[in-house]
Amino acid sequence: MYDFDTLIDRRSTGCFKYDGLKQIYGESELLPLWVADMDFAVSPQIQAALARRASHPIFGYNFRLPALQEALVYWQKQRHGWDVKDHHLSVLPSLMTALAYTIMAHTQPGEGILIQSPVYPPFHNSVKEQQRKLLINSLINDNGYYRIDFEDFEAKAREAKLFILCNPHNPVGRVFTQDELQTIAEICQKHKLIIFSDEIHADLVFDDNKHNPIAQMAEEITLTGISPAKSFNLAGMGTAALISQNKQLLKAVDHYNILLHTFMGNSFGIAAFTAAYSESESWLEALLGYLKANRDYLFEQMAIKFPRIKLSPLEGTFLAWLDMRDYDISESEIIRKLKEECRLALNAGSTFGSEGEGFVRLNFGCPRATLTEAISRLKRAF
Ligand SMILES: Cc1ncc(COP(=O)(O)O)c(C=O)c1O
Repeated sequence: MYDFDTLIDRRSTGCFKYDGLKQIYGESELLPLWVADMDFAVSPQIQAALARRASHPIFGYNFRLPALQEALVYWQKQRHGWDVKDHHLSVLPSLMTALAYTIMAHTQPGEGILIQSPVYPPFHNSVKEQQRKLLINSLINDNGYYRIDFEDFEAKAREAKLFILCNPHNPVGRVFTQDELQTIAEICQKHKLIIFSDEIHADLVFDDNKHNPIAQMAEEITLTGISPAKSFNLAGMGTAALISQNKQLLKAVDHYNILLHTFMGNSFGIAAFTAAYSESESWLEALLGYLKANRDYLFEQMAIKFPRIKLSPLEGTFLAWLDMRDYDISESEIIRKLKEECRLALNAGSTFGSEGEGFVRLNFGCPRATLTEAISRLKRAF
């Protein structure tokens, strides 16, 4: 019903993934499997909603429409069994805006903030650049599968005010289990931490894995960031939401949302967000089937052709985590070979934290033909 195979030329649309290659990698003619958006057209329902919005010629300030809230409430209940009807909600331009405001609202310079590295680079940066103390609970790499070191987590939680959770986890591909989340929730409650739960990849979960919003286990201390940016390929739409059962927690964050005048949303973002959650579920189901097949193909091909590259089991997200350390060359040499010999742009692992040194992240949210080409290009150097 939906076409994920067609190669759509994204060059000259101002997209970071292609048009930003020159700035980031120094060359523009690389096959980009780096930044986390997908090379697929958005759902026809989203396209229609945007066309409808564009047909009205006035784009003034927005007021958070009840339709957006309804769509979000429906979606969380329908997909994740989370009832957010009576929760408080803010609209913001992005999850990283929500995170930066949360750090401003709930911590002071010098106070500890806990993250689980390797993790999405802005988690590190948002803490460091606001002069908070970065506390790192390194994930344990257990033969490629990442587990939480709870003893270390609790030791660091004693010193922290805020914990930033990434679930599903970018880049290691974990969807944390109910038991893991329960343990995290208990430790955070015991040591009076606030949880900022980044659930942007929540809808991108495969096999028998299930996404569990941690707010269900720790509603009084949790702020949950959600957005259709990843699952519906809307990262350029500038619209995300922050949800909490605890009005005071959210109100403190909203202080900055109002101060910086980012609370009114974006006309197109609101239309796309609403159409994603209220009308595009069958598209998402089809996407999940396509991504799962891409993942299985990638794992199969890599095992046959590149047995020295170890892939972490991938429970969720469209981002594969490749351990290249068996080649025994530096990470910069790996990236150089990928770029100059394979003509590929992938993310260097160390940008996710020192635990990622010697790894690379590969985005398989692309037509199968692109993935096949990328795998074949790897042969030029590995
Ligand atoms: C875990 C995670 N959080 C947040 C983002 C970015 O979200 P936003 O653009 O809404 O800040 C990404 C993008 O890759 C991500 O992987």
